[in-house]
Amino acid sequence: MANSKYEYVKKFEVDDKLPPHNWIVLRIDGCHFHRFSADHMFEKPNDENALNLMNICAVTMLEHFPDIVFAYGVSDEYSFILKETTEFYQRRASKILSLGVSYFTSVYVMKWKDFFPHKELREPPSFDGRVICYPRAKIVRDYLAWRQVDCHINNQYNTCFWMLVKSGKTEREAQESLKGTLAKDKNELLFQQFSVNYDKLPAMFRKGSCVYVDKVEETVKLDDSGNPVKRLRKKVTVGHFDIIGPKFWNEHPYILEEE
Ligand code: GTP
Ligand code: MG
Repeated sequence: MANSKYEYVKKFEVDDKLPPHNWIVLRIDGCHFHRFSADHMFEKPNDENALNLMNICAVTMLEHFPDIVFAYGVSDEYSFILKETTEFYQRRASKILSLGVSYFTSVYVMKWKDFFPHKELREPPSFDGRVICYPRAKIVRDYLAWRQVDCHINNQYNTCFWMLVKSGKTEREAQESLKGTLAKDKNELLFQQFSVNYDKLPAMFRKGSCVYVDKVEETVKLDDSGNPVKRLRKKVTVGHFDIIGPKFWNEHPYILEEE
């Protein structure tokens, strides 16, 4: 069949296939969540329900997109790692980005009432996103370490800041007293002034959240001699681990295994 005279417009489309044999990171981030969190009266500095809502969106992403092998979330952001060999939408950046962001956003809206049954969603949440390629698993690990270090720095600062404000200081005064302080000074401040041991705060706040497919052993039946017959089942799991050091990665070598 002859092409219509309008078909030439397709030639203007650019090829946005991501390079092969690269891990793909899709990072999404809440738009104007400073305002969104204030409008919905999120607890400061960390709102457990808001963070759990983000986590459930990430779990749903892993269940829906089989090539996502790991996700890491903190505050209003989530990073999704797609395996290096993925052929999802022929690795087209715009498809991966737009599908990932729109799916995450839809789940966020759908699940809102499960986490905030008494709070109406007052404005449509939106997320921006980007895709980044990393040629080696080692760099993906460094990327994740970068996000977790950020989580630690921000959380420690915000914990101190809101403790000071809640104890009567103005926001400006709180900011002034934290200026130039080191990590150990902040821990000391929390302990001396508020009897708070930073290391005892919930791991979700301090470490962020990891979502991955775990292989769990389960007993399916007993054989004729009464011995358990076991099989490995895949289960999407949420945990709040240290992903900077090697322990987690040594225990889960298959997550970032290169082919
Ligand atoms: P853009 O991402 O540039 O659109 O701006 P943003 O306002 O979303 O800021 P950014 O992504 O840099 O930071 C996230 C913001 O979300 C934080 O500064 C907080 O204001 C807010 N936020 C995220 N999680 C929580 C939470 O658990 N509690 C509260 N109170 N605020 C949160
Ligand atoms: Mg944001």
